[in-house]
Amino acid sequence: MHHNIPELVQNRMKFLEKIDAEDRVDGTPRMERLRQIPPEIGKFLSILAASAPKGKFLEIGTSAGYSTMWIALACMERGTMIKTFELLEEKTLFAKETFRQSNMEKYVELVEGDARDYLKEERDISFCFLDAEKEVYEDCYDLIVPNMVKGGFLVADNAINHYITLKPMIDKALLDERVDALVVPIGKGELLCRKI
Ligand SMILES: C[S@@+](CC[C@H](N)C(=O)[O-])C[C@H]1O[C@@H](n2cnc3c(N)ncnc32)[C@H](O)[C@@H]1O
Repeated sequence: MHHNIPELVQNRMKFLEKIDAEDRVDGTPRMERLRQIPPEIGKFLSILAASAPKGKFLEIGTSAGYSTMWIALACMERGTMIKTFELLEEKTLFAKETFRQSNMEKYVELVEGDARDYLKEERDISFCFLDAEKEVYEDCYDLIVPNMVKGGFLVADNAINHYITLKPMIDKALLDERVDALVVPIGKGELLCRKI
């Protein structure tokens, strides 16, 4: 999977990595920044997604589609799709361009809107990456966990660098008997939950 990333995907990943790095130092306002995961988290997500049981793949917080491309590598291997939700129109347009240029449109369904308005309809979730505004994490957790298949993964980003804000949700997950959970100390900290 990581040894044969299509050239168009590699090119778009490099392009977005450059913009994201510039965003972090040039004073771009927070809501306009891409705020992407680093490549090591992309690898972590694609390995987990490739290992997930049969079911639906979701992502909450697309931005320009960088993390989506990593997860979609697993979709390419499995012949499945990921559905990704993005609140902001400008980011949705950026992501659309990412999936077009990387030739990944057939593996990605992009939905513009607040993911919370759609999640209650989703069933049989086998993989979900949660990377939105931290204030919505707990709502998303509550909507996703009941609808995950046995053995499915939920990964939530920023579990260490936003620990104080996310503590109620992290504590809930660690005590939740529906999942096995831990915080993996890579990147900005990934809360990893596996549905029992
Ligand atoms: C940290 S960025 C996502 C970065 C992306 N996952 C990546 O690594 O390439 C968070 C994104 O979540 C979006 N977002 C915030 N709240 C949301 C919600 N309730 N539903 C859908 N998207 C949301 C924001 O507009 C922003 O683009």
